[in-house]
Amino acid sequence: MSTTLIDGKAMAKALRDRVKEEVERVGQTHDLTPGLAVVLVGEDPASQVYVRNKGRQTLEVGMRSFEHKLPDSTSEEELLALVARLNEDPAVSGILVQLPLPAHVDAQRVIEAINPAKDVDGFHPMNTGGLSNGDPNALVPCTPFGCLMMLKEVFPEGLAGKDAVVVGRSNIVGKPMAQLLLRESCTVTIAHSRTKDLPALCRSADILVAAVGRPEMIRGDWVKAGAVVIDVGINRVEVPGQDKGRLVGDVAYEEAAQQAAAITPVPGGVGPMTIACLLRNTVVAACRQAGVDCRLT
Ligand code: GUN
Repeated sequence: MSTTLIDGKAMAKALRDRVKEEVERVGQTHDLTPGLAVVLVGEDPASQVYVRNKGRQTLEVGMRSFEHKLPDSTSEEELLALVARLNEDPAVSGILVQLPLPAHVDAQRVIEAINPAKDVDGFHPMNTGGLSNGDPNALVPCTPFGCLMMLKEVFPEGLAGKDAVVVGRSNIVGKPMAQLLLRESCTVTIAHSRTKDLPALCRSADILVAAVGRPEMIRGDWVKAGAVVIDVGINRVEVPGQDKGRLVGDVAYEEAAQQAAAITPVPGGVGPMTIACLLRNTVVAACRQAGVDCRLT
């Protein structure tokens, strides 16, 4: 059996091209330029890389980018004051506060301070609630949305009736992923660290989404023959003699690829799709705020 490698890099490029076209169109027809504000608190090296990439790609598709880099010592009140200013700023269509935040800041309080219409992360309770209630206008978290786009590419006939197992119950990926799969009429199970016999559960899955943050935890013999595997993990592991180590997913790729009908690689799978979906969400949010029809699906 041949395994399809799901090319997130190519899919993300195609989505960015569509976003760019839509940005040009709404610029010409409605004089609208979407803008994305990204807030980074502290010096976390991985977050710094993500924020830099977001800023660069935002400009590349013709949108405005506003970066706010604040010291680790920033108080919750200062951060809330910045969010309030961004909420009021008409040039800002989308607001993303990079997580994790320092321990002295209540991240949930900050998320809830963001205007839900500008919440391009889809983390505000209005949007998480909207997603679970079937509100088509809810802004959807970028990583699971990117995963769903990849799954739809693999299953052009739709996902209805598939058994989906999501390993991981985070607010950023696991829970919204499960909601999206449910919306597509999958039978969804969310697994986590207390799940009994995780290997057997994973083997029951037609669609297996791994989002646990544990390098190569999911082994080849946990994957049913012909399953589709989406690996959300990005874990840096040490390699003797290599300064930066190596990036691996939550799935033991070589083994799992022997079993799967289709699988996402790490890097080059889910990662690039996440930022492309963020750009998409920003255009969608900008159009809604301006009362302009958006052609992005
Ligand atoms: N940290 C890791 N992933 C994300 C994300 O999707 N959004 C934000 N804001 N922070 C993150």
